[in-house]
Amino acid sequence: MKQKYTPLKDHDTPIKVLFTGYLCTVGIGYFFALIQILFTHGMADGKFGLSVDDIVYSYYGNRSGTVLEQKLNGSMKDNAPELERFKIMEWVRDGADSDDYKADGIDKIIESRCVMCHNKEASGIPDFTQFEALKALTTEDTGATFASLTRVSHIHLFGISFIFMFVGLIFSFAETTSTKYKCIAIGMPYAFLIADILSWWLTKIHPMFAWLVIIAGMGMGISFMFMWVTSILEMWLFKPVFIDGYGKNYLQWRDRFTLELNKARFAKIAAFIERIAEQVKPVAVTALDEWLTRGWPFIRSLFKK
Ligand code: HEC
Repeated sequence: MKQKYTPLKDHDTPIKVLFTGYLCTVGIGYFFALIQILFTHGMADGKFGLSVDDIVYSYYGNRSGTVLEQKLNGSMKDNAPELERFKIMEWVRDGADSDDYKADGIDKIIESRCVMCHNKEASGIPDFTQFEALKALTTEDTGATFASLTRVSHIHLFGISFIFMFVGLIFSFAETTSTKYKCIAIGMPYAFLIADILSWWLTKIHPMFAWLVIIAGMGMGISFMFMWVTSILEMWLFKPVFIDGYGKNYLQWRDRFTLELNKARFAKIAAFIERIAEQVKPVAVTALDEWLTRGWPFIRSLFKK
């Protein structure tokens, strides 16, 4: 097969250094992004680690309580001792009255525990030197606001599409992946990025879509990792990996897969799967129906408790 591009391994060293520098930097960036997610969304339910609950609480909100209470049980948990958090929550449950604010000593707690971060200078978080700002958080927690979703959505769409522009461009010079799979690997992050952003908005409307947030995020991560690893290996370790090492088996497997004979066999298997899918479809439709009319309301009623 004649290639119309210069394979990664044959690029000049300065270009390889440039590509590698870029890939390493965005790789580290990706790593920090994951840590950031763990610390904000991951703590939404008060427990470390990301779960479906975290995503539901972050976008849909926890409609059984107020923002202030959720945060005091969640990501703000470590900022005040148990007793003081309890006092604040008690005050909220009693109606968050402005007279009680001073009488119950809540003002002192907020001043000593929260104002060092929640002040005028802080951007993006409420200023607790203003009573109104605190009071506004004592209403029902409906998750992310449409304003914040709009902000984060456009930042993500612009920013992440650029990351995948260059990662995809570098990966497009890879030679060990066939054209078909290259197209999939390069296109997938964009499809998942849009699905990811869409899923935040859908989760804001209905918590069922929290799964889509997780699936889209994982899809993006997997394609990123695949392109990253393939590009680095081809640039610097082509011989030890793809000629002498494990990669050799991968290439043999790929070539066998694309042989004409196997294509026919592959088509037969695909037709078989299609036939099965045809029979499963009515069952799946019924199952989905059942889930929406019975399963989901049941799970929701558990949530409410
Ligand atoms: C170390 C700095 C820091 C301290 C101390 C701190 N916070 Fe926060 N707070 C933040 C940051 C950063 C955010 C935004 C990230 C988040 O929501 O987890 C935040 C968010 C919040 C929110 C959510 C605001 C919103 O609009 O969704 C509430 C409520 C909150 N804090 C309450 C408190 C209370 C009450 C205290 C005192 C017991 C406190 N915080 C102490 C840094 C702090």
